[in-house]
Amino acid sequence: MIDQAVNERIAALREQLNLHNHRYYVLDSPLIADAEYDALLRELRSLEEAHPELVTSDSPTQRVGAAPSPEFREVVHPVPMLSLANAFDDEELTAWHRRASGLLETDAFSLVCEPKIDGLAVALIYERGHLVQGATRGDGTRGEDVTANVRTIASVPLVLQHPERAPTRFEVRGEVYFPRSAFARLNEERADRGESLFANPRNAAAGSLRQLDPRITASRGLAVWLYQLGWVEGAEAPDTHWETLEWLREMGLRVNPEIDRVDSLDGAQDYHRRWESRRFEVDYQTDGVVVKIDRRDYQRHLGFVGREPRWAIAYKFPAEQATTRLEDIRINVGRTGALNPYAVLEPVNVGGVTISRATLHNEDDIRRKDIRIGDWVIVERAGEVIPQVVGPVTDRRTGAEKPFSMPTACPACGTAVVREADEAMHRCINAACPAQRYERLRHFASKAGMDIDGLGEKLVAALLEAGLVSDAHDLYHLTREQLEGLERMGPRSAANLADTIAASRERPLTAVIAALGIRHVGAETAELLARRFGSLAGLMDAGADELAQVPGIGPIIAEAIALHFANEGNRRIVAELGAAGVRVQEERPGGAAGPQPFAGLRFVVTGRLEGFTRSGAEAFIKELGGAVAGSVSKKTDYVVVGEEPGSKRDDAVRLGIPILSEQDLAALATGEGA
Ligand code: IVH
Repeated sequence: MIDQAVNERIAALREQLNLHNHRYYVLDSPLIADAEYDALLRELRSLEEAHPELVTSDSPTQRVGAAPSPEFREVVHPVPMLSLANAFDDEELTAWHRRASGLLETDAFSLVCEPKIDGLAVALIYERGHLVQGATRGDGTRGEDVTANVRTIASVPLVLQHPERAPTRFEVRGEVYFPRSAFARLNEERADRGESLFANPRNAAAGSLRQLDPRITASRGLAVWLYQLGWVEGAEAPDTHWETLEWLREMGLRVNPEIDRVDSLDGAQDYHRRWESRRFEVDYQTDGVVVKIDRRDYQRHLGFVGREPRWAIAYKFPAEQATTRLEDIRINVGRTGALNPYAVLEPVNVGGVTISRATLHNEDDIRRKDIRIGDWVIVERAGEVIPQVVGPVTDRRTGAEKPFSMPTACPACGTAVVREADEAMHRCINAACPAQRYERLRHFASKAGMDIDGLGEKLVAALLEAGLVSDAHDLYHLTREQLEGLERMGPRSAANLADTIAASRERPLTAVIAALGIRHVGAETAELLARRFGSLAGLMDAGADELAQVPGIGPIIAEAIALHFANEGNRRIVAELGAAGVRVQEERPGGAAGPQPFAGLRFVVTGRLEGFTRSGAEAFIKELGGAVAGSVSKKTDYVVVGEEPGSKRDDAVRLGIPILSEQDLAALATGEGA
């Protein structure tokens, strides 16, 4: 290509990439597939490599290019970056509004309501449409020059959409944040590498933006929302904040579409309520809403008090983090014997809910966070999630705090605790452990299991205590009289409970499998197992290899199931459940579930099979609608033959009955065979 043509192609590619960046990162509505975008970028890159003299700093290829710097240059903000006064309830917001109304001598003004992004403030300067500087807020007057890092943030345009129409120079302000999804991933990776974890997305954003090596910033996946015009030269800013946001948006800057304009205080209160209930639906963390008076002449009239404008206020959500004392670390023994440490806290209000317990995951996690008994700790409640201990406040240590170590004996039964080499969890391996019994029974009776409504925590504990039950099957031998004998059990509730227990015998096989409490086997896996094996007998006899053949079941689950049924006690429970009349085999009147390619066919299975156990193969045939007989007769349709088959194979040959290998059987099932 001659230089002119190269020049034009490069310009065209940059323009296209610029447009697609904007569609993808700013508007969230891409026009082309990722692969097409990548192809354009690759083409531009190779042209620039061949013509290094044509590379410009705002080319889409140049987001990460700068070398690590020894320190950040100081930047002075000619217009100081302010902070905001806070309101914590409707009353405080009303007081703010009343004050402003008094000074303005009217309450007829519009308010712009915005999500308050929990990140860190930045100021970006554009000159003739090109990004020339990015700075942190610092103390409001002096910040740090983080241009090289800001350039790596994909949602910050290096060039505006219509650079020729942009003001000569202007500064736009906003919040750099860590998307929640990227945050979770970052902490997982850090944990895997044994590095310290970030306490929250805001710390992670700050830590990532203030990296001396921009390549690290680039790898973190930060994003930006812009919400304020700092100053402008060579153009007239619009008269209202709302129009200013629209103006910024038109230039290609990323302005939050959730921002709304309301015409009264009521509107702002509604916005706050609505946003509070929706705040966990979005991929960024918010800690409140910001309410701003729309008209700029009103803003000017109101001015500031100290560093806070009178024309805006942050209406915060109740804090989701709080600091409290860690009084103790105790252990709960789960139904599979896992020893789960949890924090006993001095009760503290977190986001409107009093918390006195929080999860601590496992010993490694406690070590990594260096949490000690007696510490002041930060606790966090994120949405619906169980409260967690984020970490200790080490500055408040007195020296009296005690490091925690896992007990060597089960706190419930005293059996020695084991920890498998590749596992984070410590376990009690005594199946008769009373704590495990309790959790297993609770699980058995739960909604996803046998759904025995009315058999709650207290009753399970009372039944175990009274020695009336020790394992699930005992429930089916309880009499009304025995139930009535329990504390706070009237004749009516005893009768109801007895009925619900009896009715649970009819629960589908899937529910029974889920109720057994096999490790890693929840409702979904139970469904797969029930379909595949059709009976608990079939499931119990399947080895790990056979189980792992079931689509949707991986080697870990397969191993766990095999291990569960390798235990004599667990097998006995299944036998007892069957004897008590619980459904241990799926009924298929007319084959309710899957397709029935074997309907009306009679099979005999003989010899040792590879992918199946004998009963597994029989369950498979039944599942598909076939019948299985013990001996070959004229009525037999197929004989499935494995290794060392014996006389049944001879019978089949004598009677002229088709012989199938295991593979033939599978092919027949999928309609490919015979
Ligand atoms: S306006 C004078 N709008 O909150 C106006 N700030 O607590 C000052 N923040 O320093 C900023 N979301 O870092 C504004 N939509 C939003 C915001 C927002 C987050 C931050 C900003 C500010 C801090 C004040």
